[in-house]
Amino acid sequence: MKFEVIKFSEKTRARRGKIFTFHGEIDTPVFMPVGTQASVKTMAPHELEELGAKIILGNTYHLYLRPGHKLIEEAGGLHKFMNWRGSILTDSGGYQVFSLGELREIREEGVTFRSHIDGSIHFISPEISIEIQNSLGADIIMCFDECIPYPSTYEYVKNSVERTTRWAQRCKKHHKKSEQALFGIVQGGLFEELRKKSAKDITDLDFEGYAVGGLSVGEPKQEMYKVLDYTVPLLPENKPRYLMGVGSPDALFEGVIRGIDMFDCVLPTRIARHGTVFTKKGKLVVRNAKYAKDFSPLDPECDCYVCKNFSRAYIRHLLNAGEILGLRLTTYHNLHFLLKIMEEIRKAIEGDYLLELKEEFFKKFGYEDE
Ligand code: GUN
Ligand code: ZN
Repeated sequence: MKFEVIKFSEKTRARRGKIFTFHGEIDTPVFMPVGTQASVKTMAPHELEELGAKIILGNTYHLYLRPGHKLIEEAGGLHKFMNWRGSILTDSGGYQVFSLGELREIREEGVTFRSHIDGSIHFISPEISIEIQNSLGADIIMCFDECIPYPSTYEYVKNSVERTTRWAQRCKKHHKKSEQALFGIVQGGLFEELRKKSAKDITDLDFEGYAVGGLSVGEPKQEMYKVLDYTVPLLPENKPRYLMGVGSPDALFEGVIRGIDMFDCVLPTRIARHGTVFTKKGKLVVRNAKYAKDFSPLDPECDCYVCKNFSRAYIRHLLNAGEILGLRLTTYHNLHFLLKIMEEIRKAIEGDYLLELKEEFFKKFGYEDE
């Protein structure tokens, strides 16, 4: 993997860059759709290509449990298994183990947990996470970390973040596939001192990129932005920076302005399946009865395939009737919406009007500040 910054924004910390992997070029800042179980829910790879997605996410935790990383390795790796030609990033399991695994027990060696699928007991250590990710063969892989719940005490976070650093050392030592880029993850909850210590210790280990983890776990958004304000400047300028699990339109703008290059989030695809779509004028619950006879598109200002061809009334009907096409159309539109915002953000960095774009966007969309 290679990364270069093409242009630094003058009035913000934003950067316009390019990541190069064996599976192509990725313009940054970038939004990465989430394909947890080797599928971006309801979307076929050709549709993701049509949407302009260049990199998608896969999850170590899920793919290890089912169908198993050895099976995927036998298939020729995750790209080949799911027939995705673009780039892939796999998360380490250091989040899913904590959010989905039951009866988890954290020790220095690793984490023991019960599968959410069949209750069977498993163990993932930093070394095992790297081995699983080596088998899956993504272009970018992540260190095994602990994503601390919110709120947590200083004492708990301090011990956890020190262990996450020791785990990062072990991940780095165990990773021997140079064709896969390994990223470190900064943790530290909402404690400035611990975030700064984590940023220093993780960057000292010299990874190919850095993620800020442990955010968007229930804290107010303003708290997340504060963490980014003092953490991102401690990350090297010449490496990609990834804000994990964040992808609401407001947070994309705020993250980019603070120097983030990569984002992933289940939000656009998840809310789509619940009948909520993004529009330039804010979120719209197309399931609502008031759209029963609304023959206008989901977003009259959108130029995606869905908005050019179908009405709110039709999509509402599909969702109500339990037709799979409804889920596919809302998902397609929401992904288009976020990928398009990122494209506009990239152009705005190039033309130095990012703050103006942000203001114009939020005047119409409304600002979610909870
Ligand atoms: N996804 C969202 N947040 C996190 C995090 O803190 N760690 C990992 N590994 N994945 C995440
Ligand atoms: Zn659309």
